Amino acid sequence: MKIKGTPFFTSGPSLFYKKVFGNFKSKRNIIDHFHKLYYDSEEKTWKNTFWLGIQAQKCALDLWIYQEIIFEIKPDIIIECGTAGGGSALFLASICDLLNNGKIITIDIKSDEGRPKHEKITYLLGSSTTHEIVEKIQGLISSKDRIMVILDSDHNKEYVLKELKIYSGFVTRDSYIIVEDTNINGHPVNSDFGPGPMEAVEEFLEENKNFVIDRSREKFYLTFNPSGYLRRIR
Ligand SMILES: C[S@@+](CC[C@H](N)C(=O)[O-])C[C@H]1O[C@@H](n2cnc3c(N)ncnc32)[C@H](O)[C@@H]1O
Repeated sequence: MKIKGTPFFTSGPSLFYKKVFGNFKSKRNIIDHFHKLYYDSEEKTWKNTFWLGIQAQKCALDLWIYQEIIFEIKPDIIIECGTAGGGSALFLASICDLLNNGKIITIDIKSDEGRPKHEKITYLLGSSTTHEIVEKIQGLISSKDRIMVILDSDHNKEYVLKELKIYSGFVTRDSYIIVEDTNINGHPVNSDFGPGPMEAVEEFLEENKNFVIDRSREKFYLTFNPSGYLRRIR
């Protein structure tokens, strides 16, 4: 449908919604429909997303939020659990390049020769919750480092909860632990997944009062990480 007349929202949201999204009941409804379209489309949009030619299994809007957080926090170390092809690690390294600060430590149980080589990226091979991996990470950081963490490995609740308990300890005050893919298990996609990252976040926050959900990071409406941007406040 071609929208004529005033640009987006200048005539007030309610009029806009009525005109364009008359069949939808609410803003939430619109967002969830678009989320499902984006996530489940035949093109598999989130798999069909690349940074400098390398697949990054992310929502492009979340990558922009990453950029905003990294600019604000200026982390010295970004720990990523779940490397896959290395596209998200390369994205993080590129932003760190632009800021002339920060290194990436990324962990995966699988090795992949095709991953991008970059002086700011250290690849660790192993399971993110093992003592070996945690010890290796401790050897790569210093007590003065500002640290941010991204959890994007095994998405089952119990595993994410274990990662949250271990990796929240690395996060410095005012920085973030980002729990990826809290959208699965029906929030609003992939309803059959079973308890996953969202459920892990809920349980984690009941016990850990050092972190709060930063809703401002959901400002683009579509995020694969609803309730997943956790800021350390103390
Ligand atoms: C969703 S993909 C990561 C996507 C990547 N961060 C990106 O944005 O392109 C999940 C990855 O986690 C890895 N993985 C699964 N279980 C893991 C574990 N226990 N420890 C570390 N990595 C794991 C998988 O091998 C897979 O490559």
